[in-house]
Amino acid sequence: MALSSRTSLTGSASCTLVVCRGCCCGNARKQPGTDPAWRLELLRAGAAEHGFQVRTTDCLGPCDQADVIVVRPSAAGRRAGGKATWIGFVSDDDSTEEVVRWAAAGGPGLAAPPATLELQFIKPPRDARVRSRR
Ligand code: FES
Repeated sequence: MALSSRTSLTGSASCTLVVCRGCCCGNARKQPGTDPAWRLELLRAGAAEHGFQVRTTDCLGPCDQADVIVVRPSAAGRRAGGKATWIGFVSDDDSTEEVVRWAAAGGPGLAAPPATLELQFIKPPRDARVRSRR
């Protein structure tokens, strides 16, 4: 159930992590030995410390690349050319912490992503529309 409307196209003061929590992403039964709840807590703790936003959403589409996070640029990042960046396979603490580091540094348009995180960038589905909820 989508509880809120689409995230503003003009962006907010900080970048936003749209964290998929649909049928596959964040599903511990489909990813044995992982702790999706803990990773979401890492993201939220990073947001509280560094001032970026975290939202969750229903399935974004590319379930075969779970867990998926979309990093939406801040307004300043968008003005600097930053685009929404889709990241796949964020299913361990290391990649989750890299997402936090990038968002804390400003995210798309304002900071270069960690090189290893860049290897996890994925193409968004053709009809991608990011809906989010808190
Ligand atoms: S559940 Fe995340 S992409 Fe489908």
